[in-house]
Amino acid sequence: MKTVLLENNEKDITIAAELIRNGEVVGVPTETVYGLCADARNESAVKAVFEAKGRPADNPLIVHLAEFSQAELYTSYIPELAYRLAEKFCPGALTMVLPKNNRIPMITSGGLDTVGIRVPSHPVMHRVIELSGCPVAAPSANISGLPSPTCAEHVMQDMNGRISAVINGGNSKYGVESTVISFDNENTVRILRPGAVTKEMLAQICGNVIIDPAILSELAENAVASSPGMKYKHYSPKADVIMIESSLQDFIEYVDQNNSDNTYSLIFDGDEDNFPCRYLTYGADSSQQAHMIFRRLRELDDMGAEKVYVRAPSKTGVGLAVYNRLIRAAGFEVIKL
Ligand code: TXA
Ligand code: MG
Repeated sequence: MKTVLLENNEKDITIAAELIRNGEVVGVPTETVYGLCADARNESAVKAVFEAKGRPADNPLIVHLAEFSQAELYTSYIPELAYRLAEKFCPGALTMVLPKNNRIPMITSGGLDTVGIRVPSHPVMHRVIELSGCPVAAPSANISGLPSPTCAEHVMQDMNGRISAVINGGNSKYGVESTVISFDNENTVRILRPGAVTKEMLAQICGNVIIDPAILSELAENAVASSPGMKYKHYSPKADVIMIESSLQDFIEYVDQNNSDNTYSLIFDGDEDNFPCRYLTYGADSSQQAHMIFRRLRELDDMGAEKVYVRAPSKTGVGLAVYNRLIRAAGFEVIKL
């Protein structure tokens, strides 16, 4: 299959929407990361998404809609709190897990009786959904297990020859995937995956916001995951990633002592002065770090890095999302100095 690179204009967006309506798979930019889009109701199109990614069949796809009110078409119950969250965060980087109805096939929901609903704000993705007239299933457009793509070149690296087309919409605004939440009760939400809609932002609307324990620590062997994605190794580059929680001085001493061939450090902007070993920087604050983290993990692979020491980011605000992606890339290997 030849993968066509489409441009960000109405003519090409119309082509992409038509491909999706005809059961094909297209890479589309969103404000979080690029998505692999297919008609969520079309079982063979959704199957093609799982195949293109090499994704386990029990890991559900998020369904993207043009307006939150359309969630009523695909779910059996929407709590009042979900409407209040939608007023504030739809369109945006929030995915709400709700009980699905039978308009969403089991293959799309990975066999679950729930469906994640998101209303993306990116104008290209929004227009693709509108023109296709479909509820659009879209996981991140990477090969399963690799860092999510934040530009069209990353999608091409992973998906060239596997899907019909990719729309080039430049760099993703946030750079980490959406915040996924479920509802524990009428005023409590549970964060299953942290993202750009932060705990602090959710707490302004919800009485209670729980951070699922699997976000910061490894699931016990027999534990049931609240979200199937928690079970799988994610975001992992080929290199062995090790996260270090320490002061800059202790970090420098540690990597200086443990440096070897093809070892790199991933440090903050501002840490560079007299840094003793090879490094890349990934931003000065949480929002820059979110923007750059997946790109840097891909670059480290391209450079042939075998070991990467990462300065642990802050766990507040969108930093929690960066921390979560990195601790998973590190296979939960953290050194505290
Ligand atoms: O920002 C995003 O969410 C991007 C863009 C393309 O919208 N999409 C994305 O999809 O990151 P994906 O499939 O790579 O990650 C979705 C995560 C998975 O970890 C999955 O297990 C979880 O959301 N998820 C989806 N539906 C769920 C459900 N019904 N219950 C629990 N977790 C669910
Ligand atoms: Mg993904």
